Amino acid sequence: MCGIVGYIGKGNVKEILLDSLQRLEYRGYDSAGIALLDTSNKIEIFKKTGRISNLRLDLHSVNSQAKMGIGHTRWATHGGVTNENAHPHFDCGNNIALVHNGIIENYNVLKNLLEKKGHKFNSETDTEILVHLIEDIYKTEKISLEESVIKALNLVQGTYGIALISSYEPNKIICARNGSPLVVGMGQNEMFVASDVNAIIPYTRNVIYLEDKEMVVINEENCNTFNLNYEKIVKPISKVEWDLEAISQNGYETFMLKEIFEQPDAMLNAMRGRVNLPEGAIKFGGLNLTEAETRDISRIIITACGTSWHAALVGEYLIETFAKIPVEVDYASEFRYRNPIIQKNDILLVISQSGETLDTLEALREAKRKGIKVLGITNVVGSTIARECDGGIYLHAGPEIGVASTKAFTNQVIVMIMLAIYLGRLKHMSFYEGQRLLNELNKIPEKVNEVLKQAEKIKAIAKKYQYAKNFLYLGRGFNYPVALEGALKLKEISYIHAEGYPAAEMKHGPIALIDENMPVVFLATTGPLYDKVISNIREVKARNGRIIAIVNQLTDDLSKYTDDVVIVPETFEEFSPLVNVVPLQLLAYYIAREKNLDVDKPRNLAKSVTVE
Ligand code: AGP
Repeated sequence: MCGIVGYIGKGNVKEILLDSLQRLEYRGYDSAGIALLDTSNKIEIFKKTGRISNLRLDLHSVNSQAKMGIGHTRWATHGGVTNENAHPHFDCGNNIALVHNGIIENYNVLKNLLEKKGHKFNSETDTEILVHLIEDIYKTEKISLEESVIKALNLVQGTYGIALISSYEPNKIICARNGSPLVVGMGQNEMFVASDVNAIIPYTRNVIYLEDKEMVVINEENCNTFNLNYEKIVKPISKVEWDLEAISQNGYETFMLKEIFEQPDAMLNAMRGRVNLPEGAIKFGGLNLTEAETRDISRIIITACGTSWHAALVGEYLIETFAKIPVEVDYASEFRYRNPIIQKNDILLVISQSGETLDTLEALREAKRKGIKVLGITNVVGSTIARECDGGIYLHAGPEIGVASTKAFTNQVIVMIMLAIYLGRLKHMSFYEGQRLLNELNKIPEKVNEVLKQAEKIKAIAKKYQYAKNFLYLGRGFNYPVALEGALKLKEISYIHAEGYPAAEMKHGPIALIDENMPVVFLATTGPLYDKVISNIREVKARNGRIIAIVNQLTDDLSKYTDDVVIVPETFEEFSPLVNVVPLQLLAYYIAREKNLDVDKPRNLAKSVTVE
């Protein structure tokens, strides 16, 4: 996820671009850059790793006379966080500058082609391929810049929101989108473009939203939209009603709510380019293990903290089920100090959203000192853990700003599912079984959407239970870690004491806590242990506990013994954590909101814990 902006008009181009970028910083903050086209039609690019404030400092003394420009704030996907990989990117002759949000999936094929034609690349990004492709078409086919852009876009596979300027045709900004949002802002003799209205709202409220596979060409007075057959399209102008503060969270009241609702898209991003349905297989780019090394793995140890540790527990069930490799899960803080027994063909898998959690980092270093390979599952590209691992898998969840992790958890589980299938397919798992699983996995984002549609119902349940002092969360098998995660979410943001247990463990102690004041959340979706969970529900009801159940259908038993139910779409038991955790996130969220608490910045917590 990155942010792009563009401006053409009589205003101070440099300042407008920096100001607009600042409001897009939540979309990514690895590096930022702008390209300015001056009155002599020369383009200059300024870019810098780190926050937009770093770039602003560098540009302080630049007295620009630019008449237009484009800008970008990056959340790295292809290539590390370096000045070279920061956008904008130039073509060979520094005559076209381009910014891009998205992923060009066939960049390798295109790169090879362009290299053969003599193009030289300065970065590791997929984006740079696109600007060279446009240059190549423009020069060889001698067609207009717009036509060259359309031709290039018809050759790329993947997602993009782009903006480009060129000294060849210096009175326009060309933009296009496919999968990554773009909006044009229309001012008085000035035009803006941005990834979202957040960036341009102080300047104009008249906007045009681009749809996928549309291109727009803007100059100071006009904006013309085309489809990718170069046919003109008439677009409606919309008026933005939101105020600035609200849209900095994209209209959501908090970042956490926004991130809960982003989960279906985040999941699609994690799967994009990795799920190969026709072959019933998974493709990972950066594991850095040969197939032979992978087949030789005798044990996988997974370490993590907090929510990431819960994803690790789901991973244990998944890998043992699909790949039949023994798995051990350890808290990173315990692993690093307990002198663990590590054998030659073990590998360590560390899971961390931030990639900066100190306990996890030290566990990784301890394993490396003991000579085994370490793989990392992280969200933040270029983070310390990502850099120090031998290989790994990025979550592609986009920046997670709310301190309570939501979309990172579901993407961690998606990645564990893909890893387990990948390992399984290298061993005994059949093509048909791989296909059967991936076919269902593809349906999960839509099933999560179905759960999100029930937010109002869950809000009403939250209202009912907001005064409880304690909660119990119970689940079995794949849903035991979901019970732990549900309890953690409630503790973190509502400050209500909550415990998660395997449902059958309840009778070994926690049952003593149950009375008419104790809400018990049951994960009771279908699976081999469903009947046993129903027996546990009866046991709680017999002691007057109040039961909230997450179920797939409302049977007679369930309507008799439960106080509240949330019906969620059915899926394979192995994938059910992805669907079942969502109502628990919403329940915790709405309870905290009923209590008027700051869910994005809960007391005493930090987004990434870099101390012991
Ligand atoms: C999750 O809601 C928490 N804020 C916390 O438990 C978090 O998961 C933990 O600190 C690990 O962070 P990491 O994934 O960035 O390593």
